[in-house]
Amino acid sequence: MNKHNLPLVLMTHTLPGEWIASLTGKCRLVTGPVDATFFAPDVLSHIEEAEGLFTLLTIPIKLDLLERARKLRVISNMAAGVDNIDVAQCTQRGIPVGNTPGVLTEGTADLAMALLLSIARGLPRARQDAMTGEWKTWSPTGWLGADLFGATLGIVGMGKIGKAVARRALGFGMRIVYYDPAPCADTPGTFLPLEELFRHSDFISLHIPLSPQTFHLVNAQLLGLMKPSAYLINTSRGTVVDQPALVRALTAEMLAGAALDVTDPEPLPPDHPLFQLPNCLILPHIGSATYQTRRRMAELACGNLLAGLAGRPLTYCVNPEVYLPRQE
Ligand code: GLV
Repeated sequence: MNKHNLPLVLMTHTLPGEWIASLTGKCRLVTGPVDATFFAPDVLSHIEEAEGLFTLLTIPIKLDLLERARKLRVISNMAAGVDNIDVAQCTQRGIPVGNTPGVLTEGTADLAMALLLSIARGLPRARQDAMTGEWKTWSPTGWLGADLFGATLGIVGMGKIGKAVARRALGFGMRIVYYDPAPCADTPGTFLPLEELFRHSDFISLHIPLSPQTFHLVNAQLLGLMKPSAYLINTSRGTVVDQPALVRALTAEMLAGAALDVTDPEPLPPDHPLFQLPNCLILPHIGSATYQTRRRMAELACGNLLAGLAGRPLTYCVNPEVYLPRQE
């Protein structure tokens, strides 16, 4: 195929060449900057001609854009979550939307455990004190934290990542309880209604996708049920927690602390009250940020994109209804 006949693909961010090597010779790419926080205007200016979109989770793909993208045949999101995309509108237009599930399970579960360990043992404060001269001696009552061994971990959302966290936590001698819309088979742990889970857990880790049902699921009422010694860990999406309610609960020491890889908004402004709280640890959404995982995510996203451009079903498609015969 002549280069000019290749389908046009808009890629919202620049990615390492070896991660997207499979696209070479298969499409014409117009690419945004490495750290794009919005759809770069010079990339977006090609939207009317684009047949494919390769997006990251920070870029909203909503009705205004879809209405302009008349030639669009596939959207490939390099993320497990697709809450940045109006999937219902894509389905109406017959556009398959791809995601990259599975490959970030272990990396994200590792990070949830890292947050859990860090907040339980107060690592940020201990590190700070070691560096700033507050470390005077081996203090019998200094830098005391909480044991994982024997503690109850409440997992909210027993999907792939929730289960991977449970496996790790069992290795630390934790007891697992979990909440999911319905009890799951093959799960190490005891199902509890959400309120009971919040009441009884020593650590609570969130692993639910963002949806209208889960928006602000963790609200003032649930936070108010937590033990004052308990910790909240969130590696899912910032808006599943009512963040102003969390600030109030942490300030009032209704819980012992929170460790958040995801916030509302992202990035969280440096003067945000959460950064002032000594019992809150915040990371810049790095759940899947390992070399291996990010590369795998990019490769899967390329696979989805190429399948869509070739008119084949995407390997990982969040709206497979687009392949059903249309009801007129
Ligand atoms: C990351 O948060 C993802 O959904 O892939």
